[in-house]
Amino acid sequence: MGLSIAWRLAARGIDVTLFEAGRCGTGASHAAAGMLAACAEVEPGEEPLVPLNRASQALWPDFARELEAASGLAVDLRTEGTLVCAFSADDQARLKHHLALQQRLGLPVSWLEAAEVRRREPFLSPGLVGGLWSPEDHQVDNRKLAAALYVAAGRAGATIHEDSPVESIVVEGGRARGVVVRGQRTDADVVVLAAGAWSRRIGGLPRAALPPVRPVKGQLVAVQMDPAAPLLSHVTWVPGAYLVPRRDGRLIIGATVEEKGFDTRMTAGGVLALLDAAWRALPAIEELPIVETWAGLRPGSRDDAPILGPGEIDGLVYATGHHRNGILLTPITSAVIADQILTGQLAEVARPFTFTRFASSADATREVAS
Ligand code: GLY
Repeated sequence: MGLSIAWRLAARGIDVTLFEAGRCGTGASHAAAGMLAACAEVEPGEEPLVPLNRASQALWPDFARELEAASGLAVDLRTEGTLVCAFSADDQARLKHHLALQQRLGLPVSWLEAAEVRRREPFLSPGLVGGLWSPEDHQVDNRKLAAALYVAAGRAGATIHEDSPVESIVVEGGRARGVVVRGQRTDADVVVLAAGAWSRRIGGLPRAALPPVRPVKGQLVAVQMDPAAPLLSHVTWVPGAYLVPRRDGRLIIGATVEEKGFDTRMTAGGVLALLDAAWRALPAIEELPIVETWAGLRPGSRDDAPILGPGEIDGLVYATGHHRNGILLTPITSAVIADQILTGQLAEVARPFTFTRFASSADATREVAS
């Protein structure tokens, strides 16, 4: 988020300095699987997110083209679409129930019989009974995305300081005035808080201005397919896991969803669950080498939606809490945050996602209590 906003602002002539606690692109952007799943991943209760997710999904092709031109680096946007597979009558009933929600929301998702799913993905287990087809949910290589954003932001003129954790945001007279890094203050007209799962760890803000964001752990595993004869070509959800095939033959198997604070250790149970789910659906992975295991931290907000734009402190802008959708929401987040900083106006599509929604629910709770 920080890199994409820095790129968009610097490209429009704004003097931008980005402070990164570690190395750029090594947090959730590195851990993600890169699914742009506005339709397949929709969950009951998250309906308000759909317009934002779909708007960002629509921006992706142009965003990728522009970023590749600006950086000279590929981001591997793949547009094969997504399958969500059922292997039992239970799975099928659950998916058809989910399909009804997706269709109520106007999402382009349809049911495919087993023969059609198998025609598209012949290596799926014989137990397949059918699946959902989501033709507009694609994928991007999130690690290449982060690398390209780093180069594009730098080329546009942003100053990037790595290994430079922000200790505190300076707030004076009710306004954000800059940041302190290693005891040294840097002044700014606007401060953007885009620290992902670590957003509450930055000092200087009054408690009420700390975004309600927590780390939500995800463990993942990658196995190596033959890139010339991959076992899978679509992003494919199976019971208990999703499978994301990359151009270089890596098959990413994700992800657990765990409330473990900042613990990013791999666990036997996590790996077992992922491999078991993947193997049941795609038995041919059995012989494939495991090439990587890793865990990352999604920045989950109280309602799982992002926190975007201004809050109660003048000069402080939030771009955090993207939870499961950070890669999907990169184009829209960078666009609306850059526009808000330049024009003072937050785009209509982002207005339901300002910090103030939490303040008003707290007020409502107090009113109900009193
Ligand atoms: N969006 C995929 C995940 O959060 O695991």
